[in-house]
This record gives sequence, C-alpha cells and structure tokens, in this order.
Amino acid sequence: MTEHRSDTIRPIRFEDGNLYLLDQRLLPGEAVRQCYTDAGEVATAIRDMVVRGAPAIGITAAFGVVLACQKARGRDDWRERVAADMDRLRASRPTAVNLFWALDRMAREVDGAPDPEAAIEATTTAARQMLDDDIAGNRRMGRHGASLIEPGQAVLTHCNTGSLATGGYGTALGVIRAAWDEGRVTEVFADETRPWLQGSRLTAWELVHDGIPVQLLCEGAAASLLRSGRVGWVIVGSDRIAANGDVANKIGTYGLALLARAHGVRFMVAAPLSTIDFDMPDGEGIPIEQRAEDEVLALAGKRVAADGARAYNPAFDVTPAHLVDAIVTEHGVVEAPDRDNLAALRRKAVAGEPVVEG
Ligand code: MRU
Repeated sequence: MTEHRSDTIRPIRFEDGNLYLLDQRLLPGEAVRQCYTDAGEVATAIRDMVVRGAPAIGITAAFGVVLACQKARGRDDWRERVAADMDRLRASRPTAVNLFWALDRMAREVDGAPDPEAAIEATTTAARQMLDDDIAGNRRMGRHGASLIEPGQAVLTHCNTGSLATGGYGTALGVIRAAWDEGRVTEVFADETRPWLQGSRLTAWELVHDGIPVQLLCEGAAASLLRSGRVGWVIVGSDRIAANGDVANKIGTYGLALLARAHGVRFMVAAPLSTIDFDMPDGEGIPIEQRAEDEVLALAGKRVAADGARAYNPAFDVTPAHLVDAIVTEHGVVEAPDRDNLAALRRKAVAGEPVVEG
C-alpha cells in the first residue's frame, strides 16, 4: 500500500491524560494543536469546529468522556459529574450520529465501572480502540469503494472527508486515495465547500500533501463539470444515514446528487456502519444544524455581505436514497440502498460475515 503523507495526519491524539486536537480552523496556514483537560471545553471545541467531520467528532467526544472521568476522580458524586459532562458533549452538534453512537458506547463503559479509576481505565481503552478501529475500517472502506471505479475516470468530492475528518485516512477521501493508488482515477475535483471552505482549506491540503493533483471549484461550477462527461463518480461522506438510505451530509450534497443523476454520473457515499442510524426511519427526522449567519455574511472574519442582509445557513442537507448508487462501508458495498439491504448489511456485519465485496 502506498504511504500517503496525509495518512500520517492525526487530528486527535491522547497523551499522558491530555487530549490534543489539531485546530482545523487555522489550516492550512498554521498547524496548531490545542490541548484539552476538560470535557466542557472539548464540547465547545466541537461546536466551534476545532475538530469536525462525523467520525472525528465521535472519537473526540469519546476522549472527552475520559477527561470527564479524570476530573471526577475522588468525588462521591463522580457519576453525576461525568453524566453532566456527557450531556455537554451530546449538545455540541446535532447532525452527526457518530457523536451519539460514541457517547452511548462510552456510557456503557462508565456504567460498568465501580469507581472513577476503573472508569478512567475502561473509557481510555474504549476510546483508543475506537480510534484504531476507525483507521483500520477506513482502509477497508477505501478498497471496497475503489473497486467500483472503472479506470480512466475523474471524480468529484465535497467537503472534507479525509484524515482530518476521521481518526485517519478518511472515508470518501480514503476511497479516492485507494482508487488513485490503483491507477483508476485520472483527476480529482473538489468543491471549495462554502461557507467553511473545508474543500479549499482541508481537502486540498491533504491531497497536495499526498501528491495527488486536485482542482478546486466553486459549487456553482459543478453542473457544467458533470455535464462535460469527465467525471465518473461523485464521492462524498455522510453525517447520518437513515435506515432507508437517505443521506445527511454537508450542505450542497443534495444538489450534487441531483446533478449527478441528471448527467448520468454515479453517486457514492462512503461512511462507517456507525454513521447509519437504524433508529431513524428516513431522512425527514434527521436534525439539521443551523449555524450562525456570520459564517455566510463574512469571509475570514471580515463582513462581505451588504449591511442589513440576513443569511440562511443550514450546515447539512438530506439526499434521498433513490439518488444514491452505492453506500460503501468498512463491511462492504450496498448498491441502490434501501431499508432491506442496509438491514442485511448490519446483520452480516454483526455476524462477522463478509457482505457484498465490491
Ligand atoms: O461541518 P463539518 O465539517 O463537520 O461537516 C463534515 C461533513 O459533512 C463530512 O462530509 C461528513 O462528516 C463525513 S466526514 C468523513
């Protein structure tokens, strides 16, 4: 396997009881690691986008629980204190289900621990395991997704789904890395992804690090690019996939899916099984985060919009399942996703059986 420079990027590190997050608000200009010892501050860091991307948010929150247990050491009411910190983490961002998945898993570790010391040990082990599993799963997902791509095609991606958005390697960007290594992809296009510019700042940074040429485009340029016939697949990640295959992802994803279908371009969603919310019947019920108007009205801290203008700033949208050609997970590929084939994927994954090998 090719060694990618970006694959050595780890947005989340836990050392000597401290949590270090690579501050993604400052990239690509500065690579600064912020240090956290308090779970409430971790919740604020998630809300403020120091760390972002669904899997990365979940793993960060898991380590946040470790910090909560450390802080509650020696207190009679340690369980209540840890629970209050978990509520803060839970309230940080609403859409990525990986956050709630990770916190539920950590809650089970805390519940099973007789005292704070045992809780620290159990949660540290579980959070480290979550991080390692995420990276290993992303590599498998990358290979599954790459196998769907006929050689000789360009791909288009949206937002950042790479090492920075996960424990490492990435989901959709992991598929692109694997496909590039296998010589299947001729060109990589990346939407700049307004308003946070995850594409221009983060995806481009990762790909340039890897020596994979990338061309950025304004979202408005996607229609003519897809019409040109150069792009074979649009490949994106997800923050939450409903049980019927509806996909919540970065705002603009739904528009790309419509454009892809209109131009005969295939549409792939790469996400770990933990992103599928089997308790959410369809995309209608997925909570969509609304973010501050200033993110749209200003650029790099300077207001650019006309005084008096307001902004509509949903952070995510929902793509209906019928526009999705394939959902790629670490356990295999589901083509034309629906309630039945996603449930079958889960059953087989739980049983440890291989699913559809792409
Ligand atoms: O607001 P963000 O930057 O957290 O949004 C991230 C995305 O929408 C990603 O596409 C998604 O989390 C998948 S990341 C592997």
